[in-house]
Amino acid sequence: MQKPFVFVNVAASLDGKISDEGRRQLRISCDEDLRIVDELRAESDAIMVGIGTVLADDPRLTVKSRELRKRRLEEGKDENPLRVVIDSRCRVPIDSKVLNDETKTLVAVSKAADEERVKRVSQRADVVVFGEKKVDLRRLLEYLFSKGVRKVMVEGGGTLISSLISGGLVDEMRVYFAPMVIGGAESPTICDGKSEIVKCRIEKIERVREGFAVFVKF
Ligand SMILES: NC(=O)c1ccc[n+]([C@@H]2O[C@H](COP(=O)([O-])OP(=O)(O)OC[C@H]3O[C@@H](n4cnc5c(N)ncnc54)[C@H](OP(=O)(O)O)[C@@H]3O)[C@@H](O)[C@H]2O)c1
Repeated sequence: MQKPFVFVNVAASLDGKISDEGRRQLRISCDEDLRIVDELRAESDAIMVGIGTVLADDPRLTVKSRELRKRRLEEGKDENPLRVVIDSRCRVPIDSKVLNDETKTLVAVSKAADEERVKRVSQRADVVVFGEKKVDLRRLLEYLFSKGVRKVMVEGGGTLISSLISGGLVDEMRVYFAPMVIGGAESPTICDGKSEIVKCRIEKIERVREGFAVFVKF
């Protein structure tokens, strides 16, 4: 299988939570981590998120630094990486920021998606169909590779990350741990979904202001 390099980046509390029980967007990253995340985005060909994250956070998924966008243009790339939304039923709201005209977006749906919704979303993004009920992530990655995408940065959430890890599709993961605990048995974690033990190797640990980042390889 030929697939892009898949890199997961996520910000968590010390107890491994990436949000609270209300699944609201929380400020977990510090300014320095956000700066690093912007650099990592700028180095990627595509930024991938699950529909749960789009519905909860309404992220833009663009490169914030003007300098970094300029550098991408100088390198002959688009100003921003391609945005990829994993959305079996094509639930992405038409007015969500991820469908704005700042850059291109690909919405990956499954055969379970409603035709009318697909038609509407197709006016703002490219829509591809992979899988029967859920999006077939392996086939999607193969497709992205065939379109020239060589590095995908996955920005959550825990359900998507879990599927990618259990499918053996993640090469590297960076977790920023903030000096806080969030708690809550129902709070989303770095890796939700079905319980499955997958071993990995810790490559390095970096201090990031008051927190730290762990880099792991699978
Ligand atoms: N701290 C951080 O760095 C960070 C980053 C991102 C998100 N978050 C938080 O994470 C939470 C959202 O995470 P989430 O776990 O609910 O949602 P998610 O991982 O963003 O999206 C999961 C959804 O993607 C769809 N999907 C389609 N095919 C899939 C497949 N093969 N594998 C997995 N998912 C597939 C499913 O919905 P359908 O079946 O309807 O398609 C699934 O429920 C929010 O609270 C957000 O604030 C935190």
